[in-house]
Amino acid sequence: TSMDRELEKLLTTAKGAEAEVFKKEFQGFKELFHRFLQVKGPSVDWAKINRPPEDSIQPYEKIKGKGLPDNVADSLNKLAVVKLNGGLGTSMGCKGPKSLISVRNENTFLDLTVQQIEHLNKTYNTDVPLVLMNSFNTDEDTKKILQKYTHHRVKIHTFNQSRYPRINKESLLPVATDLGLTGENGDVWYPPGHGDIYASFYNSGLLDQLIAEGKEYIFVSNIDNLGATVDLHILHHLMSQPNGKRCEFVMEVTDKTRADVKGGTLIQYDGKLRLLEIAQVPKAHVDEFKSVTKFKIFNTNNLWVSLSAIKRLQEQNAMDMEIIVNPKTIDGGLNVIQLETAVGAAIKSFDNALGINVPRSRFLPVKTTSDLLLVMSNLYSLEAGSLTMSQKREFPTTPHVKLGSSFTKVQEYLMRFESIPDMLELDHLTVSGDVTFGKHVSLKGTVIIIANHGDRIDIPAGAMLENKIVSGNLRI
Ligand code: UTP
Repeated sequence: TSMDRELEKLLTTAKGAEAEVFKKEFQGFKELFHRFLQVKGPSVDWAKINRPPEDSIQPYEKIKGKGLPDNVADSLNKLAVVKLNGGLGTSMGCKGPKSLISVRNENTFLDLTVQQIEHLNKTYNTDVPLVLMNSFNTDEDTKKILQKYTHHRVKIHTFNQSRYPRINKESLLPVATDLGLTGENGDVWYPPGHGDIYASFYNSGLLDQLIAEGKEYIFVSNIDNLGATVDLHILHHLMSQPNGKRCEFVMEVTDKTRADVKGGTLIQYDGKLRLLEIAQVPKAHVDEFKSVTKFKIFNTNNLWVSLSAIKRLQEQNAMDMEIIVNPKTIDGGLNVIQLETAVGAAIKSFDNALGINVPRSRFLPVKTTSDLLLVMSNLYSLEAGSLTMSQKREFPTTPHVKLGSSFTKVQEYLMRFESIPDMLELDHLTVSGDVTFGKHVSLKGTVIIIANHGDRIDIPAGAMLENKIVSGNLRI
């Protein structure tokens, strides 16, 4: 096809090892694109969806109840931690990799990750490596920073995910290379979602290398999930399964609240556990999908995956993930689509897959500055790279925080707080408009602060707001 010819042309300009990588990427893209062309209709038949069987999603407490053996270190030495590090900080108004944004006491996501693993290695005298899956967007900046961890007790590996061409929505041809645009939104290339991990990991040679070093499982998570620490009980559970019954894939799920209606959920389909994402749900069933009573849990994207199983499935070309079609309008107004896959969608390809219903504390994603405010506050304390909720909070739920558009960018958000308010007794905070906070403000119960257009509200230093609405010059 003309698509093939366009891309073959690109390949002929590359040399050596680079050409090898391009060839594999091209092959991967071709397969994904052909699969996309073949797909007709929705990827699930709603009538065939079943509730997962009783024992296929186990409560974490049950896993924990078994206790830990003396040889935890042996299990740890068979583990590698993988962080998905392909994403940029654009949605929080930052340039460069998201993992390099400071989240707590000047520590970045990456710093915290390194501290966690280093702590583990020191405590148990083990050698758990950290693996970063970078994208072409994050690789260079990440590698520069990695030098600062050379003297830490954690070996860090990186590999790059693939780089696929965006496709013109009308012509279905790859977007030309000479648009003259740059930056994430003008680029003709994109990283094809975290489902790309299996192929890229395998193609990089690192998968084989880790297997040769005696590693058996990877713990994969989003680098922006501060709750995704290595859990020894889950690890032990995996390692203690009898041969032949080995669980090749664990998805950590957690109870859904009305705030997380969009997360993917686990269903039973054709006799296997499957991840169901909102994008796959027919319009008529979206409300049903969002209900917290029918679909009670959602995917945290904390996953434990067998290395030998990944190798087998890659070699049999049997890794089966639904295609996510992501429509975008790139700079210059061109409508494109990018074909993506999600790492959790591969669950159905693995043997003896299991869901584990973990406490909410293992899901602490920082997607917005509202999330950032929570993790920077006294609601959490930081120890060896891990955040735990303060004992001083009466109920272990996080407050609902909604900061308006003047707070979207990290830079601007930081300027609006002279210090982070005391939030130990906060339930709900909404802030909108041009609002600033002085030093040592304390927020309790439900607090709503709204500065109308043209107005500005400065919360004075030392103020205590409890169940208060502050709006313009009207104070209730
Ligand atoms: P996102 O922040 O983009 O997704 O990526 P999300 O909103 O959490 O939703 P899910 O997890 O896709 O359901 C989550 C993590 O995956 C990485 C990001 O860097 C982030 O750590 N990622 C995403 C990649 O490494 N590569 C990709 O192509 C996409």
